[in-house]
Amino acid sequence: MLTFQNISHEYPSGAETITALDGINLRVNRGEFLTILGPSGSGKSTLIHIAGGFIRPSRGEVRLHDVPVEKPGRDRAMVFQDANLFPWMSVRENLRLVLENEPVSEERKQEKIVEVLDLVGLKDFDSSLPHQLSGGMKQKVSIARALLMDSPLLLMDEPFSNLDERTRDRLNRDLLEIWKLRGQTILFVTHSIEEALRLGTRTLLLSKRPGKIVQGWDTRDLGEDISAPPFLEIYREIHSTMELCCPPSYKFEMR
Ligand SMILES: Nc1ncnc2c1ncn2[C@@H]1O[C@H](COP(=O)(O)OP(=O)(O)OP(=O)(O)O)[C@@H](O)[C@H]1O
Ligand SMILES: [Mg+2]
Repeated sequence: MLTFQNISHEYPSGAETITALDGINLRVNRGEFLTILGPSGSGKSTLIHIAGGFIRPSRGEVRLHDVPVEKPGRDRAMVFQDANLFPWMSVRENLRLVLENEPVSEERKQEKIVEVLDLVGLKDFDSSLPHQLSGGMKQKVSIARALLMDSPLLLMDEPFSNLDERTRDRLNRDLLEIWKLRGQTILFVTHSIEEALRLGTRTLLLSKRPGKIVQGWDTRDLGEDISAPPFLEIYREIHSTMELCCPPSYKFEMR
């Protein structure tokens, strides 16, 4: 469904260049929930932005349903770390913007908004302003906005990393439910092995810069119990692979 063929990307940096990604080959199947781990600077966001068509890679090609991705499109919805809502607009008005150019009646647009708000559990907050919502609720609005686009592909770049652990757990469960219901293909970047394992059907680890794929793990059927042996085993394996490939580059020394 989505393929990355020999993707490399360099950013200009003064007189030099920074190689963010180097030779990424990847095939994501329809309906897969792919989680992406990797140290800071390993090119995870770059990869997501390339898939979204926001960045043209220096080399290689991304194809969605066999069509080259060259610019952003409605067949790919993005969710970022911050909800990025217009603060002067209500939840409903923020969502309505997505449907501006949809060739459907106003009545149908309003119905669709109610449907997605219901799906993320915010039906009673349609007239709230963003500042009246908690961080988790704002992220839910941003997920609702992505769902309104009805895209087959959802690209999520650390969408829950600014939230407290319990809210994140809750949203993880909600997102899984939505994914099961809608069957979209999801690429989800996170720094948390636990979150990657809870959510994904497959997990990839990128190396430190320049980002390459170190290894992939099949993470289906691990169950919900994060203290159960299959979960712990794969957690430990990913953790030790990370320690070997990409140890933190800083050292804290006590004097
Ligand atoms: N616009 C840019 N101009 C120059 N260099 C950039 C730009 N964007 C990213 N980079 C560099 O490319 C590398 C990869 O960045 P990227 O944001 O993709 O990493 P990341 O894995 O998402 O990191 P993090 O986990 O911190 O979000 C980094 O070294 C970064 O400094
Ligand atoms: Mg990033």
